[in-house]
Amino acid sequence: MGLSTVYSPVGSHLVPAPLGTGAAHRRSAQLHRPRRALLATVRCSVDAAKQVQDGVATAEAPASRKDCFGVFCTTYDLKADDKTKSWKKLVNVAVSGAAGMISNHLLFKLASGEVFGQDQPIALKLLGSERSFQALEGVAMELEDSLYPLLREVSIGIDPYEVFEDVDWALLIGAKPRGPGMERAALLDINGQIFADQGKALNAVASRNVKVLVVGNPCNTNALICLKNAPNIPAKNFHALTRLDENRAKCQVALKAGVFYDKVSNVTIWGNHSTTQVPDFLNAKIDGRPVKEVIKDTKWLEEEFTMTVQKRGGVLIQKWGRSSAASTAVSIADAIKSLVTPTPEGDWFSTGVYTTGNPYGIAEDIVFSMPCRSKGDGDYELATDVSMDDFLWERIKKSEAELLAEKKCVAHLTGEGNAFCDLPEDTMLPGEV
Ligand code: LMR
Repeated sequence: MGLSTVYSPVGSHLVPAPLGTGAAHRRSAQLHRPRRALLATVRCSVDAAKQVQDGVATAEAPASRKDCFGVFCTTYDLKADDKTKSWKKLVNVAVSGAAGMISNHLLFKLASGEVFGQDQPIALKLLGSERSFQALEGVAMELEDSLYPLLREVSIGIDPYEVFEDVDWALLIGAKPRGPGMERAALLDINGQIFADQGKALNAVASRNVKVLVVGNPCNTNALICLKNAPNIPAKNFHALTRLDENRAKCQVALKAGVFYDKVSNVTIWGNHSTTQVPDFLNAKIDGRPVKEVIKDTKWLEEEFTMTVQKRGGVLIQKWGRSSAASTAVSIADAIKSLVTPTPEGDWFSTGVYTTGNPYGIAEDIVFSMPCRSKGDGDYELATDVSMDDFLWERIKKSEAELLAEKKCVAHLTGEGNAFCDLPEDTMLPGEV
């Protein structure tokens, strides 16, 4: 492997890397600077995939590498190493909001191999803002210092068209939080712009089969905006994160039943990642038995359980003084793992997906959290062996109405005409309780 850290002046565009092997790799090995910045910067990369495939040891002429230091000046041949020669092809993962709290938990999980597997080398492409660029450098430095064997490249930048180039996964975390006195419609518009731009960038430069997970709130509608702006990427590839809500629901059920959470399965979060979300206790199971058979307290299930899950994010903000970060990162890792490993027999997981052709009768053309299963190939199918009753359906319709109203607010960002914003009064993000 050729591993390099280079100080170099970088202007407005990609600079051909002096180190490494092929042109394609050189392109991806850049550490992107803000367009106007002309300061010295750091590039960190390991061209593992190229060398795993080619078995090439790229001994660099010492004269061409005078800028490197320490371990980054060392060149290895991965084919010669029993531990790495069976590794998979490099996976490119972009993370936006990379200097934020959620990313700070997530990036180290991704780099450690716990998400994509211990035979999966990874390139991390970190997207930040001009304001956060120095912090991004700090994140990249900490990643370097962690010596993760599977982490083969780190690049940072503020231009999604550069950062998203050839990415296989885009984890879109960065978004503006709702400020004091800000109308929810304004939040939808501000964040919607970000996700419209990122959708366009993904459409232009990402892998044609990129999987996109939207975390920045309001994540369902942001995911819808993103996919509408990326018509060349299958709409099925876009997800809104509701796995955090599923995890929260599992925890509450386990607590009430007095079992550990690994006994709780088939928990669906239906709908929006907001206070209208519907944690489904009708289909959920404890040790293979319907939750309603184990927890006889229907009033608790219908009222306390449901509200606790819906408002968990807000209660957490009251305690912490900020949004959930560690548990959100864990749930992002869980959401990815659910797509890259086969779903355990009979179980399913929740994720917000595009509703086209859904079997439940939920309105088409929104992003709605539903029960899914995966073969572990990054794709999913909707679970069809689910029951519905009036209580569940009535609540699902409320969350659906909220998402349809949100969609009207962002029509100017989805290419569907003029926006008309008339949101239900109680519409809130979990963090706005
Ligand atoms: C959460 O559910 O914890 C967050 O989405 C809350 C928020 O509004 O940031």
